[in-house]
Amino acid sequence: MQWMQKVSMMFLWCSSFVIALCFGVTYAQSGPAADLVTSLPGLSETPNFQHYSGYLQAGQGKYFHYWFVESQNNPSTDPVLLWLNGGPGCSSMEGLLAENGPFHLNDDGTVYINPYSWNLLANVLYLESPAGVGFSYSTTGNYQTSDPQVAEDNYNALLDFFSKFPSFTSNDFYVFAESYGGVYAPTLSKLIASGSANINFKGMGVGNGMTSYAVNDNSLVYFGYYHGLIGESLWSEINEYCCSSGTCTYYGNTNTNCQNAVYDALYLIQDIGLNIYNLYAPCYGGAQAQSRYDADMSNLFRHSGFKFQAQVDVSVPGDPKCFNGTAMYVWLNNPNVRAALHIPSTVQSWELCSSTVGSQYQRTYSDMTPFYQYLLQKNLRLLVFNGDVDMACNFLGAEWFVEALNQSVVSQYAPWYYNNQIAGYVKQYENITFLTVKGAGHMVPQYKPAVALQLFKNYLSNTY
Ligand SMILES: *[C@@H]1O[C@H](CO)[C@@H](O)[C@H](O)[C@H]1NC(C)=O
Ligand SMILES: *[C@@H]1O[C@H](CO)[C@@H](O)[C@H](O)[C@H]1NC(C)=O
Ligand SMILES: *[C@@H]1O[C@H](CO)[C@@H](O)[C@H](O)[C@H]1NC(C)=O
Repeated sequence: MQWMQKVSMMFLWCSSFVIALCFGVTYAQSGPAADLVTSLPGLSETPNFQHYSGYLQAGQGKYFHYWFVESQNNPSTDPVLLWLNGGPGCSSMEGLLAENGPFHLNDDGTVYINPYSWNLLANVLYLESPAGVGFSYSTTGNYQTSDPQVAEDNYNALLDFFSKFPSFTSNDFYVFAESYGGVYAPTLSKLIASGSANINFKGMGVGNGMTSYAVNDNSLVYFGYYHGLIGESLWSEINEYCCSSGTCTYYGNTNTNCQNAVYDALYLIQDIGLNIYNLYAPCYGGAQAQSRYDADMSNLFRHSGFKFQAQVDVSVPGDPKCFNGTAMYVWLNNPNVRAALHIPSTVQSWELCSSTVGSQYQRTYSDMTPFYQYLLQKNLRLLVFNGDVDMACNFLGAEWFVEALNQSVVSQYAPWYYNNQIAGYVKQYENITFLTVKGAGHMVPQYKPAVALQLFKNYLSNTY
């Protein structure tokens, strides 16, 4: 194994050297040489693309870890995509290592190239945001932040990215985010669209995103009933106490009987062993911590005062209930991996989700509608997509949210296809599209990698 790696590294070095000699120029790198990743522990093949890992300055004393993977197709002309995971407090390394990124992990700690990586189509920038998440840090050690502050920090990090990689400034640029990234993406997009920076901004995608607490919570109760999780007598109770003249309000309803009934429903949905990220996937048990789960739970019924108990104990930091992040945790905390990714030894250990960041986080926005209204007027391509068996940010809430933007309809709700099978449903409105991925959970590219790659391809070509 080891000699094979050495041989392939020597080959890489030699061929770079020969190219440099032949063309009489130094071997072209698009970004800072110090950030170029030249080897990855556990990876035995040589990737056919360059990738960089290092830090972007996100503001005074704030340094965000980034990992930029160039396109496997044509890096100089392919779009640049920013990918953000949510939480708040969760790391975008999950996106890279377990969703749409090129390097995925086997249980034994070896690395393989994901055949459905989105860098088949685009240059992808994975950013760990805000400070305190993953390998990102602040020199002040202050990890309290808020929605507008994160947007500003992400914007600054992006400016630093384009100054480090100036040759990508003219490429089309897109922002995609997942889960609580449903707040990060539109707030950052508004700054980009209204800012003076030279960024060729073309659009935004939000996957299973937080869009509106009220809509997300109200729709979850329907989702639960119509997926067989609640039962008739509780459903009648809910309707009796929470509805009047045909309108039901589960979120923020002040009727105590309604609150009790909704509490019972939520208990059945999220606290008795279902995997909230994917109704039809098993819930991985075991003695594992669950900060990711806590982070996502904290997005549901925030103003109700409901507080559910953590079900499992804490032994692997950042590893959530029902979700197995052990492989990422072990690999990213390997000192050789840290060195390969240029992480200074002074930086904290990697966690999937930081409770330091999550617990101090100030949520400023409860409904992203004004941000969408702004972006809709900016000649951008907006996409809201949802794996349709997720219960953290369910598809129905996202569908209602987009519908309520009152955009004129371009094409009615209809199936879209992958491999001659229905992959989900799509409705196109003027300047925004709503799309589902059938059978996918919260992390769409993780649960349905091939379909997700097709989704991204369709988005880029604007044909579904
Ligand atoms: C979690 O992942 C680790 C490493 O990938 C694996 O060894 C372990 O069996 C997994 N646990 C469960 C419950 O699936
Ligand atoms: C959609 O974008 C176009 C181009 O910027 C703009 O002219 C139009 O007003 C937008 N439509 C709506 C409904 O906002
Ligand atoms: C959409 O239309 C409804 C009904 O007219 C209105 O109540 C709502 O405020 C509109 N939404 C937006 C975002 O303009």
